[in-house]
Amino acid sequence: MSSPIIVFGSINMDLVVYSDKQPAKGETILGNSFETFQGGKGANQAVTVSRLGFPVSLIGKVGNDVFGNELLESLNSEHVDTSMVGRHEGPSGVAFIYVFEETSENQIIVISGSNEQVKSNQMPDKELSASDVLISQLEVPPSEIEDLFIRAKNTGTYRILNTAPGLKISKNLIHETDLLVMNEPELENLTERTLERQNADSIGQAIKDLNLSTTQSVVVTLGSKGAYVYVDQKGQLIEGYKVEAVDTTGSGDCFIGALASQYLESKDLLDSVNFANKAAALSVTKKGASASMPSMEEVVNFHQIT
Ligand code: RIB
Repeated sequence: MSSPIIVFGSINMDLVVYSDKQPAKGETILGNSFETFQGGKGANQAVTVSRLGFPVSLIGKVGNDVFGNELLESLNSEHVDTSMVGRHEGPSGVAFIYVFEETSENQIIVISGSNEQVKSNQMPDKELSASDVLISQLEVPPSEIEDLFIRAKNTGTYRILNTAPGLKISKNLIHETDLLVMNEPELENLTERTLERQNADSIGQAIKDLNLSTTQSVVVTLGSKGAYVYVDQKGQLIEGYKVEAVDTTGSGDCFIGALASQYLESKDLLDSVNFANKAAALSVTKKGASASMPSMEEVVNFHQIT
């Protein structure tokens, strides 16, 4: 039996290099350290939900390589239901991640591997009808997400689409989504507009270009500044929390997993975004993507630095 929260998404092995600064074009620099972590936007979101104490099922694919075994082991140890994760006769997804420690910012290149083979039919209708919230992102084929979202509409499942990475998607996939979650560059990409950064009016104008129905909502994440929430045809800023950032990798995924978890309980988007802001702030204080996701106790007891 599947869980109330389903994540249809990517699973990657993250190969992470930490260095003080970003090399200039053509320059070689010596880095500080190298680590591997379980990652992938889908897997990170599922681990967040699980660490917050909610049952979660992940639908995705890993390869038949050594990374595939490690990724499955790691997800199982995080109590994510992997019974609908398939095996692909080829390589697993990998992400090459560079974290620049002076700024704690990162750059990521993903090689999709098995994530390109993820199919909507890995999720039977019977399981779909038992779910309340379905989350996806764009590291698995958008046509398969669209197919699954159309099926999920018939079962009344709340459909959340994280439009990351910033790819072009069909109008129909947007139309089949209840809540779109994105950052500012992704909103610019979807609307072909240049935003005045962190400006509520500019974000509100761009959201109008999406021609959403009255029941659809949007959350635009603004990093440490918080998030812009558009719900019931009104937009407002929800402030973020200040912390000492170490590694921002996966903070957007933490935000989405936490938002979905809280929404399952409260059905209140503004409350869910505030909760997700706290969880995401905590996640940037630790290294790694899935490895940095907080527990419910940590979020509830969170105090920002003053
Ligand atoms: O959002 C962070 C994630 O993006 C990383 O874990 C990496 O695997 C890529 O999917």
